[in-house]
Amino acid sequence: MKVLITGANGQLGREMTKVCSNLSYDMLLTGSKDLDIRDIDATYKIVKDFRPELVINCAAHTAVDKCEEDVDNAYRINAIGAKNLSQASYAVGAELVHLSTDYVFDGEKDRPLTEFDDTNPQTVYGKSKLAGEKMAAEFNPKHYILRTAWLYGDGKNFVKTMLNLAAGDNEIKVVTDQFGCPTSTASVAKLIIKLINEKNYGLFHAASKGKCSWNDFAKEIFRLKEINKTVNPCTSEEFVRPAKRPQYSVLRNYMLELTTGDIMPTWQRDIYEYLK
Ligand SMILES: NC(=O)c1ccc[n+]([C@@H]2O[C@H](COP(=O)([O-])OP(=O)(O)OC[C@H]3O[C@@H](n4cnc5c(N)ncnc54)[C@H](OP(=O)(O)O)[C@@H]3O)[C@@H](O)[C@H]2O)c1
Repeated sequence: MKVLITGANGQLGREMTKVCSNLSYDMLLTGSKDLDIRDIDATYKIVKDFRPELVINCAAHTAVDKCEEDVDNAYRINAIGAKNLSQASYAVGAELVHLSTDYVFDGEKDRPLTEFDDTNPQTVYGKSKLAGEKMAAEFNPKHYILRTAWLYGDGKNFVKTMLNLAAGDNEIKVVTDQFGCPTSTASVAKLIIKLINEKNYGLFHAASKGKCSWNDFAKEIFRLKEINKTVNPCTSEEFVRPAKRPQYSVLRNYMLELTTGDIMPTWQRDIYEYLK
């Protein structure tokens, strides 16, 4: 299979590269310097020259706070970038995998959210990612759009931040009032391959099962690493940031349940495998 991976230097991009390499796929890996997905001409050129059967878009503007002031750029990367890849992949008959986020919801409902729940993003990041979902779907019917959450893999993420903090002397305070589903890039990558093999197109929630607060998650990381460090509680109000975080963004992988089955692990199993 010929695969173009965009955002190949990011967390998920690296994981997809590893997985596709193990499957002996013929890959073209692009970082932002090789292909700027905001540029439609460059996108068409790379896609038409390489002629992939599958495009996996791992590129995004993921700096949630920065998006609040970098609005045009957030929409250019997260929405127009998705549009460009959707059009270009369609032009060569390729399928498109695109990633989205729990930030498309407002986090106000106190129950797990399915693909059938109304979206209501509260941040520029969430709004631009929702626009990206729509544009990815609009120009290429052969699309797989996966909404994931609290992602960690090879790169900058919460797990690494906690382990770095644990190595220092400072008190660790982590919020107890934001709930979600920590998910590894390994689990998302495995699911992507399954959906591709089954040609199960559409929009899917793709998060590890169960729910926890960031504070619970930090405690579990330290428990598994046998780090004897106290994780003190705090509230979101003590940690005000430019972009509002969803309070309760627990995703239920309902489309997977209704179609080919949900292979995502529990969040506890997922972090155990990652730290092993
Ligand atoms: N991280 C999370 O917690 C999280 C949660 C839910 C959903 N997601 C979604 O999951 C996907 C993967 O996230 P991630 O954590 O793997 O992201 P990441 O580590 O931040 O990587 C994103 C990559 O996008 C590339 N990029 C940025 N602007 C670009 C442009 N204009 N053209 C081409 N490439 C560009 C960057 O490339 P260079 O490094 O080459 O500059 C970067 O490596 C994204 O769609 C994200 O929205 C992430």
